[in-house]
Amino acid sequence: MGGIARQSRTKAAPLPDPAANPGFVSLVSAGPGDPELLTLKAARRLAEAQVVLYDDLASGPVLDHASPQAELIAVGKRAGRPSARQDHVNALLVEHARAGLRVVRLKSGDAGVFGRLEEELAALAAAGIPFEIVPGVTSASAAAAAAGIPLTRRLTARRVQFITGADVTGQLPGDINWAAIADPAVTTVVFMGQRSFPELAAGLRAHGLPGDTPALFAQSVGHPDQRLVRTTVDGLARMMQAAEVSQPGLIMYGPLAFDI
Ligand SMILES: C[S@@+](CC[C@H](N)C(=O)[O-])C[C@H]1O[C@@H](n2cnc3c(N)ncnc32)[C@H](O)[C@@H]1O
Repeated sequence: MGGIARQSRTKAAPLPDPAANPGFVSLVSAGPGDPELLTLKAARRLAEAQVVLYDDLASGPVLDHASPQAELIAVGKRAGRPSARQDHVNALLVEHARAGLRVVRLKSGDAGVFGRLEEELAALAAAGIPFEIVPGVTSASAAAAAAGIPLTRRLTARRVQFITGADVTGQLPGDINWAAIADPAVTTVVFMGQRSFPELAAGLRAHGLPGDTPALFAQSVGHPDQRLVRTTVDGLARMMQAAEVSQPGLIMYGPLAFDI
């Protein structure tokens, strides 16, 4: 009798059990801001945490899911310490976990997307502290959903790429793969790209991407002041030239399904 051969499974490592581990860090994805976009696991970790270290972009109503007894610590830019900020966050994580506490590190969107997750994982691993990562809704998928469009299209956008518009100095990264990001058959999502978009758009044009390529600007997705602008790469470059950057904004361009 024919049939699909069963694949032999390697034995999975046991999942960490936060309840049984005094001193445990959950790196939790907060989603874009709307608390309904928290996963059930994220909400549960927040409810069980004794300490929550949160970023500016992972604050607001999502923090209502934390226990009233939990200590809430802001560690975003507005919490000060412009220099050595990451070292400071790493030290706080280690210090609270070593005190035997259940710690949540709440990060905006999906914790693994442009969120300096690697630095925090390395610090925890070096200190021998057990941790888990709780995935979540990135602002990229939330922005597409808010605009009523898919991120991929079966015939015209078979690839989606996430890029950053700012390197550690806040400038457009110098080592951009222009051929990849000027590919007209790809949906490209630009994080932290509001300030540098005019320069990015000029580079895209120089590398052959038509200026009338559809572009979406999605600001404060999942927040009460959410703003969505459907435009083109050239139109968005003009808009960003004049814009003051006060709120988080995401840019998306490519064969976007504005024709639906
Ligand atoms: C440090 S990155 C973190 C990204 C996050 N991990 C994610 O998956 O969405 C911050 C950038 O993400 C984008 N972003 C985060 N939250 C957003 C939101 N609610 N609305 C629009 N863009 C957002 C902006 O481009 C912002 O500059």
